[in-house]
Amino acid sequence: MSAEAETLADAAPALPVGHYAYDQVDRAFLHDRVEQFRDQVARRISGALSEDEFKPLRLMNGLYLQLHAYMLRIAIPYGMLDSRQMRELAHIARTYDRDYGHFTTRQNLQFNWIRLEDTPDILARLASVDMHAIQTSGNCIRNVTCDQFAGAAADELVDPRVHAEILRQWSTLHPEFSFLPRKFKIAVSGSPHDRVAARFHDIGLVAKPGHGGKVVFDVFVGGGMGRTPLVGVHLRDNLPEEDLLAYLEAMVRVYNEYGRRDNIYKARIKILVQALGAEGYRARVDAEFAAMDRARYRLPPETVAAIRARFGTPDLAAPAGAAESLAAARAADRAFDRWARTNTHPHRHPGYVSAVISLKPDGGIPGDATAAQMDRIADLADRFSFGEIRITHMQNIVLGHVRQDQLHALWQDLRAVGLATANIGLIGDIIACPGLDYCSLANARSIPIAQKLSARFASPELQETIGDLQIKISGCINACGHHHAGHIGILGVDKKGEEFFQLTLGGSAGNDAAVGQILGPALPEDATVDAIARLVDAYLVHRNTGERFLDTYRRLGAALFKDAVYAVA
Ligand code: HEM
Ligand code: SF4
Repeated sequence: MSAEAETLADAAPALPVGHYAYDQVDRAFLHDRVEQFRDQVARRISGALSEDEFKPLRLMNGLYLQLHAYMLRIAIPYGMLDSRQMRELAHIARTYDRDYGHFTTRQNLQFNWIRLEDTPDILARLASVDMHAIQTSGNCIRNVTCDQFAGAAADELVDPRVHAEILRQWSTLHPEFSFLPRKFKIAVSGSPHDRVAARFHDIGLVAKPGHGGKVVFDVFVGGGMGRTPLVGVHLRDNLPEEDLLAYLEAMVRVYNEYGRRDNIYKARIKILVQALGAEGYRARVDAEFAAMDRARYRLPPETVAAIRARFGTPDLAAPAGAAESLAAARAADRAFDRWARTNTHPHRHPGYVSAVISLKPDGGIPGDATAAQMDRIADLADRFSFGEIRITHMQNIVLGHVRQDQLHALWQDLRAVGLATANIGLIGDIIACPGLDYCSLANARSIPIAQKLSARFASPELQETIGDLQIKISGCINACGHHHAGHIGILGVDKKGEEFFQLTLGGSAGNDAAVGQILGPALPEDATVDAIARLVDAYLVHRNTGERFLDTYRRLGAALFKDAVYAVA
């Protein structure tokens, strides 16, 4: 520990609600990292470091060089922010970027217009609120993601934030896993309903109570998107909590040792699992697990309890009649009633709900928030949800604990700043990657397609009639926009310099995870939105009552939809 850290260590850590409280050792470490980077940036600017020499250093701090500018990717561990952190992000957006930030599907925030010389100051500001950009790039274990309703959801069995935090501590700067064959993504869920796309991750963990109430995990491995989209293999059931780190250590070690390093496209763990077969991979992991010093990696219940205690727990106490008050407000206001239906999630505590703030306004850019909106969301979190904010892997924002009798007031305030779009889980709730507007790897622009689609389907009545339908758009084969897992997936492809879009149908990221199937030839940009409208019409005509698009597709197959899209006079 540095001298500075020692003197600071006596100060009691603040306890923001729902958020893991840093101590002074953590803070001193971040401070040192920022100062190291400040020196590296100065050497780059003076020319002492070439771009090639600087690149690995900047990537270690989440700084990319994109089409037009530097892009900074900031980690939001398991999606949790507190209001002061959100205000700091707003401040950074206003001061150093073009007044907005982009919330991503991996519970990160990206700034797209950063100047190199500003990055040390930005990282210092982030560190001042216990945030950073470490391991948001590179071949290491990336930001561990988690259910956006963690600690709040009515259907939750285990609060997965605690284990996500333990994994964050285990994986951050893990000396053995700093140079894996490729990047590595872990998601943790504690609900029987998969809201983290566990089966599309390198490792997906589903926590549940085992014998005697002790936490155990179902483990999935080798899922992923990109060039070789695969649903993860169910590796094992009932992994005891005490063995979580030992078993994961074994899993990642086997990958580190046998994963391919000769070909970037074959370097992910999914390719290794495919090559060895689930049995072959499992056998190697079990052998490693059996040979290791398990005591060293044991995760004792006391440690888990200590981490759990570092999460501030909100003091939930709704007045009697909160539910009745909400029902009355809904009955009196149809627009509010619709928003309450689509944009809330059942809470485990009576009298509360989790409220979802859509970052997909009609015709807007999915995931973008202006500095003013971020400030407003921070204020609303203070007023309505214990200062706690969550980022979802659908690029939206959640206030976790809203009293039912205060939901109407929250909605009115959201509406005043254009954040009350009632489209969660509906066709307007589109995921899109940055695409050719920003990304140097893109073949096509994802954002304008998302904007045109959401404008086309802006009618809230129509959206509710269509029901549960997820559209996901990527500008290239890397699949940042999760198109493989979309009920309707849209992939940008380049044909002789022109932007085309290929449709896939039938993908899902949930418990029924599936990779979508390609419908047919890619469509020109100006035909894509109309084609999707015809596809949706075909569904509306042929669905059974109450049937989701995905189920109609699974029941009837592709032919009907192919006709709707391609058989145009
Ligand atoms: C403009 C900046 C970006 C660049 C350069 C970039 C680059 C990449 C690359 C190269 C891959 C393929 C990696 C592989 O699986 O081999 C990838 C995958 C991915 N990216 Fe991005 N990306 C960017 C922005 C984003 C954004 C904004 C999001 C979230 C909205 C995102 C989420 C993902 C996801 C979920 C995958 C799929 C990875 C998997 O299969 O596990 N990326 N990205
Ligand atoms: S899917 Fe392709 S175009 Fe879109 S952000 Fe990822 S790398 Fe860029």
